[in-house]
Amino acid sequence: MEGLSSLRAIASAPGKVILFGEHAVVYGHPAIAAVTDQRTVVEVDRCGDRFTVNGFRIHERYHSYLLKAVEELWHEQDAVRIQTEGGVPSASGTGSSAALTVATVAALHRLQGAGTDPADLARVAQDAFLVERKTQGGGSPVDTSISTAGGAVAVAGKPPGVGQPLWDVHWEDQSWHVERVPLPELDVVVGNSGVKGRTDAQVAKVRNAATKNVLVRDTLAEMGQVARDAVPLLAADDRVGLGALMDKAHACMHTIGVNHPAVQHLVDAVREAPGTYGAKITGAGGGGSMIALTDKPHRAATAIEDAGGTPYVVRLGGPGVQWDATMAP
Ligand code: PMV
Repeated sequence: MEGLSSLRAIASAPGKVILFGEHAVVYGHPAIAAVTDQRTVVEVDRCGDRFTVNGFRIHERYHSYLLKAVEELWHEQDAVRIQTEGGVPSASGTGSSAALTVATVAALHRLQGAGTDPADLARVAQDAFLVERKTQGGGSPVDTSISTAGGAVAVAGKPPGVGQPLWDVHWEDQSWHVERVPLPELDVVVGNSGVKGRTDAQVAKVRNAATKNVLVRDTLAEMGQVARDAVPLLAADDRVGLGALMDKAHACMHTIGVNHPAVQHLVDAVREAPGTYGAKITGAGGGGSMIALTDKPHRAATAIEDAGGTPYVVRLGGPGVQWDATMAP
């Protein structure tokens, strides 16, 4: 390969849903997340001296994650042209910014000579978290690690001990441990309330409440236990049990203060729909989205739509980040 240089790298990464343990994971308790069948594709080409995104000069206001990725991770002289094709709906709680960040990091690594073995995947997970953390502030590596790993993972501050260890992610003096956990073939229905809930604001709100209130701290620990309890139920494809845990997790999220009337309205509607096992907020809350586990995704989707939400039926599982690199003389 001497004399050849890589001119272009293409990577894709999936969206995600958090099944259990969001917010709790910020305090080291376990969370469980799974990828969806929606993917974002990023192509990065070496080019002259202008960094562009989809034909426009890269700009912090419009391309905050991409600019941070380039600033932190691109170490070469020439500029890059970035093209993105987003298959993960934005602001839907299904991990669009993590998918974009992971695919971009993977393409930038590849263009600078990285391989695609498990150690390279671990570096993508670490660097994607660094980019996300530097762009949006406090949070955990759940979104970036699940989008890198594919399938389903457990993430916690101590080794969760519920699956196969994949990698650790570090930030300052904090570490998280990521394990692969089983995932049956499941469809879930995501319902977006249309109310924007900002992840950083919700994380800050819960942090403030946890500092002052032991009930909030205990509830965060209970949410972590619910995530642990979910792993054997995922292995057994026990939908009744998983639905009941979703309902319990939802009640906990209400207690810690991240529910919103518009989201509760969707949860109430979908629980009435035939085939629903359980429903909960997914992601940071304060608006945003809920998910329902159901045998009748189209009935759940109709219930969400009738209640004023935007439904997405997603199939859980599938690959994490994938590369397609083009070498040229
Ligand atoms: O809003 P989302 O889907 O990115 O999920 C946020 C999950 C939190 O646990 C609230 C924060 C985090 O980074 O883990």
